[in-house]
Amino acid sequence: MQLKKLVIATLVGVALLAAFGTVMADNLTGKLEIFSWWAGDEGPALQALIDLYSAEHPNVNVINATVTGGSGVNAKAVLKTRMLGGDAPDSFQVHAGQELIGTWVRADRMEDLTSLFQQEGWMNVFPSGLIKLLSTDAGIWSVPVNIHRSNVMWYIPANLEKWGVEAPKTWDDFLAIAPALKAQGITPLALAENWTVNHLWESVALAVLGPDKWQALWDGTLSFTSPEAVAVWKTFGKILEYTNNDAASLSWQQATDMVVSGKAAFNVMGDWAAGYMSTTLGLTPGTDYAWSPSPGTQGIFMMLSDSFGLPKGAPDRDNAIAWLELLGSKEGSDAFNPLKGSISARTDSDLSLYNAYSQSAAMDWQNDIVAGSLTHGVVANEGFMNDFATVMEMFLTSRDPQQAANACDAIARQNGIGG
Ligand code: GAL
Repeated sequence: MQLKKLVIATLVGVALLAAFGTVMADNLTGKLEIFSWWAGDEGPALQALIDLYSAEHPNVNVINATVTGGSGVNAKAVLKTRMLGGDAPDSFQVHAGQELIGTWVRADRMEDLTSLFQQEGWMNVFPSGLIKLLSTDAGIWSVPVNIHRSNVMWYIPANLEKWGVEAPKTWDDFLAIAPALKAQGITPLALAENWTVNHLWESVALAVLGPDKWQALWDGTLSFTSPEAVAVWKTFGKILEYTNNDAASLSWQQATDMVVSGKAAFNVMGDWAAGYMSTTLGLTPGTDYAWSPSPGTQGIFMMLSDSFGLPKGAPDRDNAIAWLELLGSKEGSDAFNPLKGSISARTDSDLSLYNAYSQSAAMDWQNDIVAGSLTHGVVANEGFMNDFATVMEMFLTSRDPQQAANACDAIARQNGIGG
């Protein structure tokens, strides 16, 4: 019996090794090109992974190809050109969910990684809900390196005390304190370039709709022209009145800087802002800066996950597989995430390596209701997101909720949202 088990285990192992042509650390040579938007301030966590990779595979020359621009606004366009031109990088950053499935998997550009997941024991260490976001009936298509939270409001406790305000629990609370802040010359809510406007919108929508109706927008059971969905734009328009006029010319880091320097009271941003404040600015979470769920979203965790996949035709396939193995490993994940502001996608991560912010995010990830981010690829495909950016530009000029709702309804149909 024992022998039979051993034989079966060996055969399975050999089959898996054959599938992924393994990857004996010392045999790897040549290059590995990884493609992402983690440049500059966003780079340290990625660099920690690259350092680990280089230590394990000293004969591989890692090319860290980055295209600057928060949320991949520029990188995604460059990636598309490269992929269409037959110039795939060995592995690229892509969000779990529809950005992966509705774009690259649909176009049949990715390799199925199911055997790698089995070989590495990942089916048991990544939450099943997350694996679902990476999968179709035909396979599993990328390896998650983190979980980020989108719906977070950031502030500086000492400043709030000085101004005599508290972090708002609802958008009504925010709208109640905002005029007095504005009268003192403080921007109530710091905003940056256009994608951060979309980012704010999804937090407002989550607050106005709640998690079930938010999801209903994406599976087509709630119309974008329903009164609830129009109400999102109405509330959003009121909030925009209390943001900075120069938003379009700022990066997300500069909006965070406005809060840190006391020019602004609050900022709604994903928890890469925690990575920036802790890793780049050297601030201590809980004392130098603090956070709460974005108004009206207590108990809800709007998630997104950065992942890397293996494009078909990757020039350095073995090196790319070794990269994916590292990304999914406990060691890789726990080297990357404490610097990034995200938490590990694995359920067995060593939380003692993480700061107070990340530990609280890990607790919330366990206990909260989970919703998917729009701006960062979970709930809608790239076609919708690109069109949504245009709708948002229109709204910034017109401030017309009904017009924006109608336009969303149209682009949802065009992009196959909700069936
Ligand atoms: C998100 C990405 C994060 C962070 C952020 C700002 O889309 O998932 O890891 O990089 O953009 O650029």
